[in-house]
Amino acid sequence: MLELDDISVSYDGSRILRGVTFNVPEKSLVCLMGRNGVGKTTTLKAIIGLARLEGGSVKLEGQDLAAMRPEMRSRRGIGYVPQGRDIFPNLTVGENLRLSQVVHGSEGRGELDRVLELFPVLREMLSRKGGVLSGGQQQQLAIARALLTRPRVLLLDEPTEGIQPNIIDQIGETLLRIKREGKISILLVEQYVDFCLSVADRFFIMDRGAIVAGGPIAQLNEQVVKLHLTV
Ligand SMILES: Nc1ncnc2c1ncn2[C@@H]1O[C@H](COP(=O)(O)OP(=O)(O)OP(=O)(O)O)[C@@H](O)[C@H]1O
Ligand SMILES: [Mg+2]
Repeated sequence: MLELDDISVSYDGSRILRGVTFNVPEKSLVCLMGRNGVGKTTTLKAIIGLARLEGGSVKLEGQDLAAMRPEMRSRRGIGYVPQGRDIFPNLTVGENLRLSQVVHGSEGRGELDRVLELFPVLREMLSRKGGVLSGGQQQQLAIARALLTRPRVLLLDEPTEGIQPNIIDQIGETLLRIKREGKISILLVEQYVDFCLSVADRFFIMDRGAIVAGGPIAQLNEQVVKLHLTV
């Protein structure tokens, strides 16, 4: 579905990604893990086209994305929820959602209803300003917005960061539901190991710009966590 092959990225002359290779199979949820500053966000930016590739390739359903600008990649089927959730605080929840639909030409009540079914709390808050929502609600709004762009692959950057445990559980259940529906694959950047264990099919771990471990999620044991993830 989504394939990264030997990708490299530099910022200001210093190498940040050094030959990153992994893939996200169809109908699966893959966790990309790693300590702070190892290059996880940069990897997502390389996929969406916000970081320039120095080498290697990114392919979506076999199609090389190199020649496409970020907005084309988004239209081609890559949904992106950045770290720290970018919603419009001065627009209402409903306006935030509608804007996403307008931009992607996915207008229609049916689609909005389907997404609101995944996030019932947003339906109750349609006329509230985005900025007054709790962190967890804003994260859910950010994911809902990305879903309205009709992605084939959804990229999520640390959706549990700074969010209460009960909302983390809700987000986890929503991701599992999206996965079960089988239309969208998910690449989740995440440092919270228990969350990965509860939602992912496979994992990859990065360290200093390279993949250093990976496999079926059952192989993410204490030893691997200690070696690559404990600070
Ligand atoms: N725009 C930029 N210009 C220069 N250096 C950058 C830029 N963005 C990130 N870096 C550097 O690249 C490295 C990787 O950053 P990145 O944000 O990809 O890490 P990360 O794994 O997402 O970290 P975190 O877990 O803290 O979110 C870091 O050393 C960071 O300081
Ligand atoms: Mg990051």
